[in-house]
Amino acid sequence: MSVSNEAASPAGPSHFRAIVRNPYSVLPNWVYPAFVAVALSAFAVYSIWVVFLNNGGRYGPYLSPFYSPEITLRLGDFLIPPALWVAWAPLAFRGTCYYYRKAYFRSFFWHPRSCAVPEPRNRPGSYRGETGFWALNNLHRYALYAITVQMAFLWYDVAAQFLYRGSFHVGLGSLLMLVNVVCLSGYTFGCHALRHLAGGSQDCFSCNRARFALWKGVTVLNVRHDRWAWVSLFTVVLTDVYIRLLMLGVLPHGTWA
Ligand code: FES
Repeated sequence: MSVSNEAASPAGPSHFRAIVRNPYSVLPNWVYPAFVAVALSAFAVYSIWVVFLNNGGRYGPYLSPFYSPEITLRLGDFLIPPALWVAWAPLAFRGTCYYYRKAYFRSFFWHPRSCAVPEPRNRPGSYRGETGFWALNNLHRYALYAITVQMAFLWYDVAAQFLYRGSFHVGLGSLLMLVNVVCLSGYTFGCHALRHLAGGSQDCFSCNRARFALWKGVTVLNVRHDRWAWVSLFTVVLTDVYIRLLMLGVLPHGTWA
């Protein structure tokens, strides 16, 4: 982030005239936070609709990622929304993700806007780090454990749909489920907490060859963690929408084998 002489003046925020240029993009500075706010809000609304207002996500061999693993429990005649048993794990994982934390703090709260930019003048209080309620973000590593279990179910779902009812099956849904689980794996296994688990807390982290190899593997994914985060968010929605359109009869179920 480059700042003009006036912006960098030691005279303080009152002399700041928002002359801040982003050296990484030619786009106006408001584009990225606006994109984050719109995309995350839309995803939150869609997820709430899927989780609370729908009772299933299976069409033949295909299973929506919102419903994996499938758990069906009733209280009398009332079916507890099956996605409720699943959705908390990815929600906790994404909500406490180091990348998303930066993105939503800056985009929704402008708090802090970024290292070089003071907060809006009319904003009471100041950024106090992740204390109080936001200390819950420290639970990220436990969300990682939970999501790792769910990843195993998602990979199982993909394998199972290729062998539907004892014969080989492949269709557009197969492709979407496979792309989705690959993208989710790229996001999950590039996690900063996993990278720390693999290579952190050691004086010589290259001395343990297994951990060093794991650390290097995680690092390959970690370098583009933000991209994996966004791409996997979209593939989750796309896969669910496709399966939902099949369930509604809007799209035909075409198979290629
Ligand atoms: S830091 Fe993003 S998933 Fe762990």
